[in-house]
This record gives sequence, C-alpha cells and structure tokens, in this order.
Amino acid sequence: MKHFSNFNQLATLELAHIKDGRKLLPDDLSIIENASIVFDESTILWVGKTDDLPEMYSTAEITDFSDHCIVPEIVDSHTHAVFGGDRSSEYNLRLNGADYQEIARRGGGILSSMNSTRSLSADQLEQLAITRIERIRSFGVGTIEIKSGYGLDFESELKLSIVIDRLRVKFAPQVQIIRTFMAAHAIPPEFKNSEAYLTSVVIPLLIELARRKLIDQVDIFHEDGYFTSADVTLLAREAKKLSLPIKTHADEFNDNDGAALAASLNALSADHLLKISNKGIDALANSKTVGTLLPGTGLFLGKPQAPARELLDRGVKVALASDYNPGSCHFDNLLLLASIIAPQFKMNQAELWSAITLNSAHALGLTQQGALLPGLRPRFTIFKAPSLSSITYNWGKNMYAFQ
Ligand code: NIG
Ligand code: FE
Repeated sequence: MKHFSNFNQLATLELAHIKDGRKLLPDDLSIIENASIVFDESTILWVGKTDDLPEMYSTAEITDFSDHCIVPEIVDSHTHAVFGGDRSSEYNLRLNGADYQEIARRGGGILSSMNSTRSLSADQLEQLAITRIERIRSFGVGTIEIKSGYGLDFESELKLSIVIDRLRVKFAPQVQIIRTFMAAHAIPPEFKNSEAYLTSVVIPLLIELARRKLIDQVDIFHEDGYFTSADVTLLAREAKKLSLPIKTHADEFNDNDGAALAASLNALSADHLLKISNKGIDALANSKTVGTLLPGTGLFLGKPQAPARELLDRGVKVALASDYNPGSCHFDNLLLLASIIAPQFKMNQAELWSAITLNSAHALGLTQQGALLPGLRPRFTIFKAPSLSSITYNWGKNMYAFQ
C-alpha cells in the first residue's frame, strides 16, 4: 500500500466522471488542495486532504509530493506509431501548395509509408517504435493506443500486430499499450477496390489475430478513395462476431455520414470529424461513442478544424488525441497540443483535462481509469508544478515528474 502525500492540487475529476465526461463546467475537475492518494497495486483506496488521512492508512509507505500536482493518467487514444520511412518531403510539398490527397494520389501518403514499412523487419520496426514510445512517455502519457496499418498485406500486417504486441509486453505496466488492428487503412496497389482487399486480406487476418489474442480493437479509414460505409459495416460485423470493439476514422476530408454510422455500430469512438454534419453531432451526442478530435492533423495539414465547441455544447463526449503518424501529423506531444488548441476550441479547463484523461480512456474502453476515485485503477500522471493551470499555461515546458 502506498501513500503519495502533500500534492498542491489533485484533480479527481469526480464530477466529470459522474457526468460521463459531457457538458462539463470548470468545477467538474473536482480539485482537492493539499491532497493525498492511497493505493495498492491494482486499486485506488482513498483520496482526500492529507490532513484527513484515515488512521487505517497511516502504515502505508509514504512519498512526499510537495510542489507537485496529480491528474488521472494522460491517455493518447489515437496513434500510428509503428512505421518505417520518413515523409518530411511531403510537408514541404504542402508548404509549396500541394494538398494531402493530391500527394497521396501521386504515390506519397500512406502507400509511401507502406513501402518503407514492408521493407523493414519486425526487430527494426520495434526499435523505431521503442524510441517513439519513450518520447511520448516522457511527456506524461501512460496509456498509448497504437494502430497497425502501414503493411497492407497479410504478412506485413501480421508483422505489425506482432510488433505492437511485443511493445505492449515490453512497456507494461508503466505504459499500457492498446493494440488496434487497422489493416483497413488504405487499399494496397495489389487490389483494385476496397471490398476485394477487405474480404481477401483484412477479414481473414482479423480472424487469425483474434484467435491469437494479438489485438484489442479494430479501426478503419472511412473516407472517399479509402473505405466505404458498406466496408465499415462489414468489418464491424466481423469484429462483433469476435467480440472486438471497433472505432473509425470518420468524416475527415468529406462528410460521409461517418460519425452517425460509427454511433449506430456502437463504436468506441469516431475520430477526426473535421467535416462532421449536424446529424453526425446529434448521433454522437445520443450515443456512447466518443468523438475524438485530432487537432494536430488540422494544424499539420493546414485544414479547418472540427467544430469542437458545437460537439461539446450538444453533449458529445469529446476526447483529444495526437494522431501521431508519419504523414498527416508528425507530432507526438498530446498535452502541448491540448494546451495549444484549447483556446481556439474554447474548451474550459475541465473539458481540456477530461479530453486527454477520462474521455480518451473511455475511447479505448478503459472505464476503470480516467478519474482518481476509490475503486478505480491507480493510473495517474504527476507533474512538478504549483498548480494545474501552470501545466497548460507553460506551453512546451515539460513538467512531467517521473522521467
Ligand atoms: O489518421 N487518416 C488516415 N490515417 C492517418 C494518416 C496516415 C498517413 O498519412 O500516413 C490519419 O490522419
Ligand atoms: Fe489516424
């Protein structure tokens, strides 16, 4: 049993938790000043003011955290962190006027990363990913979702899922890695259409990976030129048979009714949403599906952002994630991103922190974390900072305490 004591501020997110992460007011952070947390390996036992510590916890091993703050663990619920190659030239092409989809049509984009990824061994891909995960960890992220999707054939996608599973084992329990199967990321050159690729590669591999217990959830790029609504529905049906949750890349470049489809399929989350319609916002608001916004992608591609304030006001459970990937967002610092975008999205402080802790955990189906409350898992992030406000105020200054 451990007792971390004397935090300047401890954000339990108790009220945010009660409100299921929706329609949050600043006080829903439920901050306790001069606070302590008592926990064992698997469970939070007590939180409160250090002075009010119950006698029964006085024997716990104590560590002093004066001058520190503690929040529920930061969760990056959307990354594509396993890939080979470098697409910095595409960034320049965009600065010089080309757009993402145009670059993809000219042989760049996901297919360019596919070629580099296919040519690397599992060991090489693992080494590259280890460096990236250590960096993400260094900013205080404790749970990282990682998608496959740059192999795009049976063998290469199998290799990627094996690498992601190895990473999961290597980093547990300090970093919790959630393994997402996203072979449905683009149509490889070997196939003429998405349906043929889906039925001859994606679904057979999905069944094999589920049998080997190598994946936790399934994702698909629902977009013109990538995968259709019918593909999404088909893949969701197969995932359901295997008891695997789904999520989608929805309404990124075009409004494809993606958010509404994701909600109707009970997806854990619908991600991107730059072009979400009114109907899509209503569908998410009336569902359990988290709306995950990836503002780094809008910034990186120079595209207008998702209508964040509208989603928040209408009761969508909104998360923020990095979308860290080699092409559309080569940026891995979620806390910095959230701090930069919150003023533009007009998010209050509770919405900001919930979006990268409580709601992003729920976007991965992790409902036993995301708040610092007795009974939940002891997953938290500690900063050497006088207050929560100082953490988001100091853009780009890394105040994470456990390096
Ligand atoms: O989430 N939108 C699809 N997939 C990635 C982009 C991947 C890439 O360009 O390599 C994304 O933005
Ligand atoms: Fe993505």
